[in-house]
Amino acid sequence: MACDRENGPKAFVTGYPIKHSRSPLIHGFWLKELGLAGDYHAIEVKPEDFKDFVSTLAENGLAGGNVTIPHKEAAYAASERLDEAAKAIGAVNTLWLENGKLCGGNTDAYGFAANLDSGAPGWDKADVALVLGAGGASRAIVHALLSRGFSRIAVVNRTLSRAEELSAHFGAKVSAHGWDKAEDLLAGAGLIVNTTSLGMSGHGTVEDFPLDFSKADRNTVATDIVYVPLRTPFLAKAEAAGLKTVDGLGMLLHQAVPGFERWFGVRPSVTEALRSHILEDMAKAGAL
Ligand code: ATR
Repeated sequence: MACDRENGPKAFVTGYPIKHSRSPLIHGFWLKELGLAGDYHAIEVKPEDFKDFVSTLAENGLAGGNVTIPHKEAAYAASERLDEAAKAIGAVNTLWLENGKLCGGNTDAYGFAANLDSGAPGWDKADVALVLGAGGASRAIVHALLSRGFSRIAVVNRTLSRAEELSAHFGAKVSAHGWDKAEDLLAGAGLIVNTTSLGMSGHGTVEDFPLDFSKADRNTVATDIVYVPLRTPFLAKAEAAGLKTVDGLGMLLHQAVPGFERWFGVRPSVTEALRSHILEDMAKAGAL
């Protein structure tokens, strides 16, 4: 492990752009809370420089780091070893070195499931899930749902071909549909997940969210992977219809756990204190 004698291991989050990332706040909180020497900071890397960046981690004194948009697929391609989740999802969000080899993992599916374990225990007792959206983020969610035993996953997407690609990639348990089918599919689903950018800050209001929840069962759990705003139009509409809702901030916090443990050697906890710390920063930035 790359290690700075005085400061301990050094890790990073990289993306392009990266200045809005809250990952340094999360890892900084844990380093302080656990009294560990180490450093975690954001490094902006242009797409054309990414390959060079990841091939020189050790010589730059870096133990590994997180990878976000737009580098997750490039990180997958650059990794010499992949964990099972990264293989299934086709993208890497966590890098580390083992005997000089670049290893890539994906902790998004873990973070998604851990957030629901904490916010809606028993969520995985349902058999049928409805996933809105078929972009990059949707793959991690479908992988998480399959891993947790869902037997039918309906993916609804504006561009039907992207949902069909997901279905082809993950197999017969995953079906592809257009938005015109969303309300009927909602009727039988125990879990509904929004992975679209609809309702992200600046992307429409509650009234604009194109789904009527009146056919949903009251026991259905609704969750969004977007956390800015914290209460997205999707969640607000689901809550108004009486559904149990879980916001997306917990996914961000939980997906950070396995990386921290790899680079700094201690498994950290997702606590109310950590959540409050991030919420304070979001409030300051007007992101709530
Ligand atoms: P990510 O990696 O975060 O999933 P993405 O790959 O750009 O980002 O995917 C965004 C998702 O939001 C897609 O499912 C997209 O639908 P398309 O595949 O049809 O583009 C969905 N999305 C974005 N804007 C939308 C809109 N106005 N109406 C419906 N779906 C939308």
